[in-house]
Amino acid sequence: MKTFWRILGLGIIAALWVASGTCSAQKVVLRMIGPEDVNGAWAEIIKRFEARHPDVQIKYISGPWSTDDRQNMYLRSFLGGDPIEIVYMDVTWTAKFAARGWLLPLDPWFSPGEGSAFFPGPLKAGYYRGHLYRLPLTTDVGVLYWRKDLVPRPPRTWRELEETCRRYAHPPELYCLVFQGMQYEGLTCNFLEFLWAAGGQVLDEKGQVAIASPEGLSALNFLRKLRLKDWVPKAVLSFQEQHTLEFFLKGRAIFMRNWPYAMRLINQSPLRGKVGLAPLPSRTGAPAPGTLGGWGLGIARGTKAPEKAWAFIAFATSAEAQKILYFKRGWLPARKELFRDPALLRENPALKDLYFLLERARPRPVHPQYPRISDTLQKHVSAVLAGVETPEEALKALSETLKFIIRGSRENYFRRLLLDYELKESLAHTLFFSAVSVSLEFLLGLLLALLLATPFPGRWWVRLAVLLPWALPTAVMAMSWQWMLNNPFGVINDLLLKVGLISHPVDWLASPEGAMWSAILADVWKTTPFVVIILLAGLYSIPRELKESLEVDGAGPVKRLFYLTLPLLLPFIRVALIFRLLQALGIFDLIWVLTRGGPADSTRTLGLYLYDLAFRYDEVGYALFLTVLFVFFLMGISLLIVRLTTLEYERRP
Ligand code: GLC
Repeated sequence: MKTFWRILGLGIIAALWVASGTCSAQKVVLRMIGPEDVNGAWAEIIKRFEARHPDVQIKYISGPWSTDDRQNMYLRSFLGGDPIEIVYMDVTWTAKFAARGWLLPLDPWFSPGEGSAFFPGPLKAGYYRGHLYRLPLTTDVGVLYWRKDLVPRPPRTWRELEETCRRYAHPPELYCLVFQGMQYEGLTCNFLEFLWAAGGQVLDEKGQVAIASPEGLSALNFLRKLRLKDWVPKAVLSFQEQHTLEFFLKGRAIFMRNWPYAMRLINQSPLRGKVGLAPLPSRTGAPAPGTLGGWGLGIARGTKAPEKAWAFIAFATSAEAQKILYFKRGWLPARKELFRDPALLRENPALKDLYFLLERARPRPVHPQYPRISDTLQKHVSAVLAGVETPEEALKALSETLKFIIRGSRENYFRRLLLDYELKESLAHTLFFSAVSVSLEFLLGLLLALLLATPFPGRWWVRLAVLLPWALPTAVMAMSWQWMLNNPFGVINDLLLKVGLISHPVDWLASPEGAMWSAILADVWKTTPFVVIILLAGLYSIPRELKESLEVDGAGPVKRLFYLTLPLLLPFIRVALIFRLLQALGIFDLIWVLTRGGPADSTRTLGLYLYDLAFRYDEVGYALFLTVLFVFFLMGISLLIVRLTTLEYERRP
């Protein structure tokens, strides 16, 4: 009887297995990466699509908010040989992805006649060398939000902006303007608007560098002035979109530069009805163009079922889906006709003004080397805002570096090594970061290990608390530090102010020194437990009799520490030191999440530079060359540590 039930059970399991296999074999699974699906906009689109295409399953992978981070996720999937099928792309990604051959042209499915339904800018951004690779889904444009209840009208010129700031702003309670000043893609968008507002440009019509101009200088000077006068808070150097909006929602600024999605969230806040939308002010008074942004969809080369992927793209870019994205997320449609849709207009009458602004939105420079161009702009603009470069110095450096990027490097790797300024700079940051954080970790680690080796009540709980940070994923803890160190929302400033250690909030992440020390602090917090674990193991291995005999001989605790504990701990110190130094020298994740190398490249370590070279700048050869040299350097360091920490008695056979 028992055997019968067993066979029956196995039979059922096998049948279920086969059935599930055949079901999933029939379904085509297509993945895509997007930002967190707040309000379930994508879930709704996918549900409707799957109901009409039962043979397709769309898997929405929830990624970070930042465009740079999501681009990296796609890059990794392409380079790793398992391309994410549906490519959910920012407006600037097409040239690079298409030039690398990672996308399928959409021309076989999309007839050019259908293009007239979309805004021309976002559609054009999907073309590379005459082929369409990305169909627009949403569109974005940089706009000025202004407090209708605080000032009579939005400024049209920079001069009017200055006058309004002078008259109405009273920092630190009420600043004049906030924008996205962290060293990331958002800063490029913000800076370009200042540059265009002054009448300047990065590249001219022939693709030559044209930034070194009186207009370029005037844009940087104006930015510097806004900062120096304290009309813009220093904290903008650590602000992305959500930080900017948070600051504005708290009523701390009169004007905010952001994307149109923010209006929806403003309308759900106490500021509802008090905020207007306007074009960005310009130097001359002619309305300045906002940066063109927005997202679209493409298909990764290597996708097994491109037809199905296209079916999804066609649906997701349809008016039906774009409406869902608008109503659930506030993202503006890329289809022009929706700006006349009564339902949308009822919800947001400002759509009419946005239509006008969108038509005049200006794209960022289109170039396969765009990521590098953008990184260079971010670095120097961030340096001007942080006050570490004058506008003249920044403009000169910008122009020269951009010319170098456009021309392409022709030097051989060894010669380039000597000329590579970014390498020298990032190496210096890496060495400083490693030396300081590892020294602090050892000092603290030793103290904690000695403490935890001595019995006291509740020792297990203290041990657990000390070791906990080591167990947390670095990216998660870096994100928490980013918010904790943030000014004005961070808890750290709050605590320090309460206990009276500081008299006014510190902009931890907004100054070069502050950002470096913040990274060191986060690293020490996270990795000291590792040193503690190893040293604790070492302390337990020291025979008790030795300690006792020294005690009998009259040696006090200090003598015992230097003559017994430390020499016997040396092999453990060696292991921990090698591990920690190698990890610190190769630091990447913590800094990438915390500061992204900014401000003004002040926390850009070698790991970040190598990553940029290989994955963002298409310089895999040079990156590998540097990596090999770095590996030799690390081997040398390890050997040196072994040599310096091996005592005579250990060398004896
Ligand atoms: C928005 C825009 C995008 C831009 C990004 C910068 O998501 O739509 O085009 O690159 O912001 O942070």
